Amino acid sequence: MILVEGGQPLTGTVEASGAKNAALPAIIAALLTDRPVLIRRTPQLVDVETAVALVQSLGKKVERTGDTVAISERTCLSPAPPREIVSRMRASFLALGPLLARLGEASVPLPGGCAIGARPVDLHLKGLAALGAEVEIGEGMVHARARELRGTTVQLDFPSVGATEQLLLAGALAHGETVVMNPAREPEVQDLGRLLSAMGAPVRWAADRVSVFGQQRLDGAAHTVIPDRIETGTYLIVGAITRGTVRVVRTDPSLQTALSSALTAAGAAVKEGTDWIEVSSPGGMQAVDVKTAPHPGFPTDLQPPWVALMSTASGKSLVTETVFEARFHHVPELARLGARLRVEGRTIVVEGPAGLRGAPVRASDIRAGAALLAASLAAQGCTELAGEELLQRGYDTFVDKLAALGARIWQREENSND
Ligand code: EPZ
Repeated sequence: MILVEGGQPLTGTVEASGAKNAALPAIIAALLTDRPVLIRRTPQLVDVETAVALVQSLGKKVERTGDTVAISERTCLSPAPPREIVSRMRASFLALGPLLARLGEASVPLPGGCAIGARPVDLHLKGLAALGAEVEIGEGMVHARARELRGTTVQLDFPSVGATEQLLLAGALAHGETVVMNPAREPEVQDLGRLLSAMGAPVRWAADRVSVFGQQRLDGAAHTVIPDRIETGTYLIVGAITRGTVRVVRTDPSLQTALSSALTAAGAAVKEGTDWIEVSSPGGMQAVDVKTAPHPGFPTDLQPPWVALMSTASGKSLVTETVFEARFHHVPELARLGARLRVEGRTIVVEGPAGLRGAPVRASDIRAGAALLAASLAAQGCTELAGEELLQRGYDTFVDKLAALGARIWQREENSND
């Protein structure tokens, strides 16, 4: 349980951690080689621990020193990760491509649905089949087999982050060139491309495609993951919603263009330098409509915290979710804190400004948790936020980081009645 006493402007500087969604595929990419892979700037997150447990369960040895994770081969790789680990985190499914490419076979449990939508893996499987894999689904498992993967051109119906990563990972050990048309261009996918290039499989981006030149064997590499743009954006929203001034350092402001224009349109002042970005919002804020979209559009992962911010802005804003069909579970919980909002189709209609007041609320996924946390920091009085294990999946040491900005926030062990 997280306890927050809100209502004060947050002010100060916070350091970004490495990006969760770049660190996870990077750790899984180590399955492509028997050589050591060093991943620097890995955030301290439950999801990173899950990725580490995943590669360990498959035969890797992992040593963590500070924020560096060193991965080497301990024994022959297994083609089948345990269901218990895969079920903890959808990104585990990315192990399918590397295991298939290295071992010629892999059996990975289907990741299943989750709180933000059905999230199928059809694009991953169609792509692997196009590379020559025989793919079968049975008893909740995907079994894939291929004597050799052969590079080809795969057209994605939607620029899926996971499917693009899956195909780059598998293509790195395929024969010839794998081209993904309409790929996801999220910075985390580009970061994986840099790691694969460093391992010896060159990844090239063009206007409408990304390609990887497959190799027979890949080398080890040392890689530093990019700063977390979603964590950065969340702290900027926390600064704006509390009408404070928050500077995020060791980050990449060029990855915040969609959020930064929306914040500016809403009346906040945004300043940036080479590796920092700062929001300050001394007065009221105005309603601004946003629509989520694949990168470089407004990130779906910032939609829930943005909705929290809009509930405190003057006027009616429309926040449209185009990436996940069911990313609305924060809506009824924000309403408990006093926000006035409703879902119409794929749009959240927010009527502001609402006077937020503390209340017991529960996070249903990582970013819904971030929305509730942001709203509770702006709300008068005390909020009890349950489901903090979800925040721990995505936000490195968030209680300490927020406390350093002046937040009154505490973590309490949950008792059996919570
Ligand atoms: C990644 O999820 C991120 N996760 C998500 O972050 C992020 O919200 C999402 O990309 C979009 O930016 C990681 O990187 C580990 P997608 P992913 O494949 O890869 C549909 C967070 O909070 N789709 O781009 O699962 C899918 O259902 C998380 O940090 C298919 O239909 O996202 C969704 O509607 C949550 N078939 C849309 O595409 C497929 O085979 C986008 O999904 C694959 C996806």
